[in-house]
Amino acid sequence: MTTVRFLTGITTSGTPHLGNYVGSIRPSVRASLAANVESYYFLADYHALIKIDEPARIQRSTLEIAASWLAAGLDPERVTFYRQSDVPEIPELTWLLTCVTGKGVLNRAHAYKAAVDKNTASNLDPDMDVTAGLFMYPVLMGADILMFNAHKVPVGRDQIQHIEMARDMANSFNHRYGEHFVPPQAEIEESVATLPGLDGRKMSKSYDNTIPLFAPREQLKKLIAGIVTDSRAPGEPKEPEGSALFQIYQAFASEEEAQAIRKAYADGIAWGEAKQVLFERIDREIAPMRAAYEDLINNPAKIETILLAGAAKARQRATPFMAELRHAVGLRRLGEQTKADKKKTVKTALPNFKQYREADGRFYFKLVDAQGNLLLQSLGFASPKEAAQTIAQLQREGESALTVHASHLQPTVGDARQVVAALALLAAGN
Ligand code: TRP
Repeated sequence: MTTVRFLTGITTSGTPHLGNYVGSIRPSVRASLAANVESYYFLADYHALIKIDEPARIQRSTLEIAASWLAAGLDPERVTFYRQSDVPEIPELTWLLTCVTGKGVLNRAHAYKAAVDKNTASNLDPDMDVTAGLFMYPVLMGADILMFNAHKVPVGRDQIQHIEMARDMANSFNHRYGEHFVPPQAEIEESVATLPGLDGRKMSKSYDNTIPLFAPREQLKKLIAGIVTDSRAPGEPKEPEGSALFQIYQAFASEEEAQAIRKAYADGIAWGEAKQVLFERIDREIAPMRAAYEDLINNPAKIETILLAGAAKARQRATPFMAELRHAVGLRRLGEQTKADKKKTVKTALPNFKQYREADGRFYFKLVDAQGNLLLQSLGFASPKEAAQTIAQLQREGESALTVHASHLQPTVGDARQVVAALALLAAGN
């Protein structure tokens, strides 16, 4: 069976929340356990620099995200878990891809375009406050993916365009320099829930409505108490559909648990009680991981060691692959040739001898150039061995052997200098 390579990047720009857990961490950790998959998970800290200019926040987020994934059960022995900025081949590849990516393609990238459109709408300079980093975001992401020739990239819908751009980069590079990259595919996980946040809108950092995944127990309880509900009083039947509380519960509950709570809603459970049930259910799943998380977060050196080992593992692939790519584009030691170039030279420049037997029972050979044109034709030999020895001598000695063996050769048809040149080439090529 062939292995499928999956790759996931997590931008280190925040604290993991329940929405990240349900939408990404939990399904990814599960998927990483499947057979015949090879998974790459990395902390996209170069990407974080595009949005954040607070060094301490980048560092803290990197620590929290790494600790969260490890606490949630990601096994660094089984997968390749690394920090983007520990793999210098990634920014190096970014440049090679930059050179095969149309500027117009990047002009159309959603995030950049949105920033430009916003400025234009406000009558500002279109590129006001737009960094070249934001503009180049898709190329860096392409390098993340193509560096490991990932087949599948599990992403949300908002990232599909980036994966398509990565495919285009792979194709245009391959077109210019030969087949080096696998064009990746986006893997959209339809069944994975997006969680509502405290205010009922999608849980997201940008809405400031998140519940941190590893909030301490008491804080988790408080936050859950703050989730919006309608104004129905205890005893009044409640609608599970459309209730943020119910949706979050469902993301953690089994089918039976969800059924039971539906019934409780219909029977008029008080919102306060429903919140208590939700809190206990979430805490039951999170508590064991929270202990591991706290242990890790208080031990950054341990995480650092894991990440560095992950980077070393990633670079076992990235370093030789980058060397291949450098070579392919012509960033080479002087005097080196690619295998492909060499093959070409051999094919186009080297003539060759062909041996055969004729109907008369005698053994012959001829010398043809790379295009198959006849240069030299032998007369018949009594044995294949004699023919072969003559060939060997012609190859070794060139012009002088031509005179020695003249009696076994037909007078040259074309330009005798061509035969001499061909033999010289053969002698040099061997
Ligand atoms: N852009 C992704 C996001 O915002 C993060 C990311 C960076 C990524 N590099 C990647 C995701 C490579 C998948 C593959 O979610």
